[in-house]
Amino acid sequence: MKKKWWKESVVYQIYPRSFYDSNGDGVGDLRGIIEKLDYLQELGVNVVWLSPVYQSPNDDNGYDISNYRAIMDEFGTLADWEEMLAGMHQRGIRLIMDLVVNHTSDEHPWFVESRKSKDNPYRDYYIWRPAKDGREPNNWFSFFSGSAWQYDQATDEYYLHLFSRKQPDLNWENPAVRREIYDMMHWWLQKGVDGFRMDVINMISKVPGLPDAPVTSNSRYQFGGRYFINGPRLAEFLQEMKDEVLSKYDIFTVGETPLVSPEDAVALTHEESGYLNMLFQFEHMEVDVDRGATTRLNLVPWRLSALKQVMTRWQKGLEGQSWNSLYLSNHDQPRQVSRFGDDGRYRVESAKLLATFLHMLQGTPYIYQGEEIGMTNVKFDSIEEYRDIETLNAYRELVEERGLDRQAVLAGIHAKSRDNARTPVQWDDGEQAGFTTGEPWIKINPNYRAINVRQALADPHSIFYYYQKLIRLRKENPVVVYGRYDLILEEDEAIVAFTRTLEGDRLLVILNFTAGGPVFELPGQISFAGQELLISNYEVDAAEPLHHLSLRPFEARVYRLSGA
Ligand code: NOJ
Repeated sequence: MKKKWWKESVVYQIYPRSFYDSNGDGVGDLRGIIEKLDYLQELGVNVVWLSPVYQSPNDDNGYDISNYRAIMDEFGTLADWEEMLAGMHQRGIRLIMDLVVNHTSDEHPWFVESRKSKDNPYRDYYIWRPAKDGREPNNWFSFFSGSAWQYDQATDEYYLHLFSRKQPDLNWENPAVRREIYDMMHWWLQKGVDGFRMDVINMISKVPGLPDAPVTSNSRYQFGGRYFINGPRLAEFLQEMKDEVLSKYDIFTVGETPLVSPEDAVALTHEESGYLNMLFQFEHMEVDVDRGATTRLNLVPWRLSALKQVMTRWQKGLEGQSWNSLYLSNHDQPRQVSRFGDDGRYRVESAKLLATFLHMLQGTPYIYQGEEIGMTNVKFDSIEEYRDIETLNAYRELVEERGLDRQAVLAGIHAKSRDNARTPVQWDDGEQAGFTTGEPWIKINPNYRAINVRQALADPHSIFYYYQKLIRLRKENPVVVYGRYDLILEEDEAIVAFTRTLEGDRLLVILNFTAGGPVFELPGQISFAGQELLISNYEVDAAEPLHHLSLRPFEARVYRLSGA
């Protein structure tokens, strides 16, 4: 396996709106990020993925872009951005930007032109179709509820939007669109950007004819994924992007790709023949999702064996060929400690356990802002407090149109809403958690008095310092980055355990995912002469015999086995 800087990195994701507000308008900004660079350096991360900061009307918080070469007014200026980048580079931190090119904003000048007339030169930049039998051109639903088509009076046609109606899909079949995108990518790379995270990049190629989706539910619109996910020209488009842009720079590329399998991932990211460095896969994000439901906002209990199976499939499926990206949360997912750990009594222990799990797998770990202090989900009492378009549209559809019980829908929102991840970073226990001196754009999680950065930095046993240590271990031990992964105790519903092996070096990772006290029995085939404790989230007698360990709630331990 080839050594690469992007394999050895740890990424920190910044969702700028909620990170830190430097000017009191209630919205995080670039100067806010500049002020917190020392904090990131202290944590030890060496790549930042910045969610979109481009000009945007903010229908979907920046994922609807109206100018790819300008900074959103609320976030600052291009000069601020340049200062931020320089500050990162001075600290050995590289910057990857979000590349959102499946769609633009409907306020992008291309779309403004496109909708004017059928013969406008920009018409073919987007996907326009006439009505079919007096209805939408097909039956696909949009990820943000309702039809994926919006009728436009000016030309009496519909345009496709897989996301909000203010996010029209670009027509990648048009070579002029692709040229514009590649030029824009060069423009940022020339400015010194170190790579891209590519938003829903496996949705850019749609099956010609845009056929109706099979009817799998009794709702009005259906899931058309098979006609736009991993579409027929995806590989060709990415090959072209690689030839035209990516191959000319030493950069970090990660594609966001819902519904991919390890086999798809190998095809797209193979070390020799692939187009991107790695993908964000979603299979582990689906262990607690009801696949039959039309909304993600539902509660399904999950099994540890299912999570293990998925992670192992990805670890083994990519081994020696491609590289995993490792994440348990981001701006689209609930907080990991609330979802997979215990955000009550064992919040600290379980946050450290989840961090150990992720950082000890093979791949590049991604930390989502606030995760390093164990931020939790939020439970707003009323839908009025929510800001996320997906949440608001789903609520409207489920409660107002389909008449579902308000409280039940709210319970789903408490568990799964994207706003769980979007409440502002809790910097201290003062007014508005030190995020802003003004009125925040979304309410602060009320638990900020106990959970905040100031507290974490003052406590040597905090989650923050545990992350710092995990990151250091990666830098000091090639086995953490490159070691082969092998699962042990496959069926166990309480413990996740695996080894990592690189030549003569072997690590043993033991994780109790429960609030109970299961016993860990080391399988006989693992032989070794000595043991060294690398990290643990409880006080541990480092010499305790590994053959039989009584684990404490959410206990995590990593050993180096010698003389194996
Ligand atoms: C995925 C992004 O992560 C999400 O936040 C956004 O809403 C959609 N893509 C549409 O851009």
